Amino acid sequence: MDLSGKHLVLGLSGGIACYKSAELCRGLIKAGATVQVVMTEAAERFITPVTMQALSGRAVYGSQWDAREGNNMPHINLSREADAIAIAPCSADFVARLAQGRADELLSLLCLARPSGLPLLLAPAMNREMWAHPATQRNLAQVRADGAVVLGVGTGAQACGETGDGRMLEPDELLEDIAVHLRTDRPLAGRRVLITAGPTFEAIDPVRGITNHSSGKMGFAIARAARAAGAEVVLVAGPVALATPRGVRRIDVQSALQMQAAVQAEADAADVFVAAAAVADWRPARAHDAKIKKDGSGRPPALEFVENPDILHGVARSPRARSGALYCVGFAAETHDLEIHAAAKRLRKGVPLLVGNIGPAAFGRDDNQLLLVDADGARPTARAPKEALATELVAEIARRMPARTGFDTPDFQRTIAR
Ligand code: C5P
Repeated sequence: MDLSGKHLVLGLSGGIACYKSAELCRGLIKAGATVQVVMTEAAERFITPVTMQALSGRAVYGSQWDAREGNNMPHINLSREADAIAIAPCSADFVARLAQGRADELLSLLCLARPSGLPLLLAPAMNREMWAHPATQRNLAQVRADGAVVLGVGTGAQACGETGDGRMLEPDELLEDIAVHLRTDRPLAGRRVLITAGPTFEAIDPVRGITNHSSGKMGFAIARAARAAGAEVVLVAGPVALATPRGVRRIDVQSALQMQAAVQAEADAADVFVAAAAVADWRPARAHDAKIKKDGSGRPPALEFVENPDILHGVARSPRARSGALYCVGFAAETHDLEIHAAAKRLRKGVPLLVGNIGPAAFGRDDNQLLLVDADGARPTARAPKEALATELVAEIARRMPARTGFDTPDFQRTIAR
């Protein structure tokens, strides 16, 4: 995540979740942002300004009467150079203050005085009863209507010993959400992106099956990058041990047939389909109901296989894909002659863009190198972390997609193989 050049006002109101804000501040600084911390009096009961100053590298503000500002107007000055204001934790009381437009302490005052258009992001944190109370929900609806973005809450054990909704989101979740809102270019805003990721698992019997080494990292990184570019993202994931990217709708599947069914159900609503999954080419012709036992003969069981459907090819042949309403991107994992194989695969699959990579140098690793193959030829990317490659790929997809009004143009038809 690169937040260099971005400046954030990080506001802390009172709540035990203040301890997570130290980690959030650290994450923002690590990502390259500059952070100005502002704390309410109640926040200072939970964590000291010394901690936040040390982490942000800047003196913390806490009072509207702070004479360090030449004009004595920290409530104006602090937000004027900011790209966003994030309140984390945002207490029930602070939501109520925002809803009422209160201005009797620095943090609510500077929120009220912020330039229109400056994003105000709220990370609520409170006891589950406080969260569910109609007064809080009413206040949240009001602040949303007034233009604030409520980032949501987590669910689980609370410091008070109760369990439910109202926990502050974790620092890495907040970091991801803040990064999305700090981005000014959102080339996929309003677009829906469908992605497959990971391997498939083809059952032999209830305890065995065939699969492959795909980790799903690339597909998940593309999902994250597409969401950061403003898209609504659906991620169809084979069996992988990866956390769901923030704001992404995930559908878990096991087999190629399940992946195909999920993709078919979602493809009609999508504008982009990225097939990053390593789908098993074959599945056992029959999945046994019970575990296949050794029979003592020394002979292994003879397994028969049938070919799986080609999910990408099926989608790429659909009328929406052929007209350009659904932009399809395929992947090719090869071991040699990448450009030749990838170009041939692009034509075979009937997609405008095919992303080639060397399988053994990609599977399970955190970095990779891609070869982008389209009707105009092939371009290699640098070797880079998958997150960075995903961002680059999403930008390339956005650039190549026909404008909404430009579907079915001769120029687009030239880019897809017949
Ligand atoms: O034919 P091959 O497996 O090499 O093609 C790889 C591309 O096709 C990837 O984009 C992969 O997700 C997709 N694919 C698919 N369904 C299959 C096999 C591959 O969608 N059954």
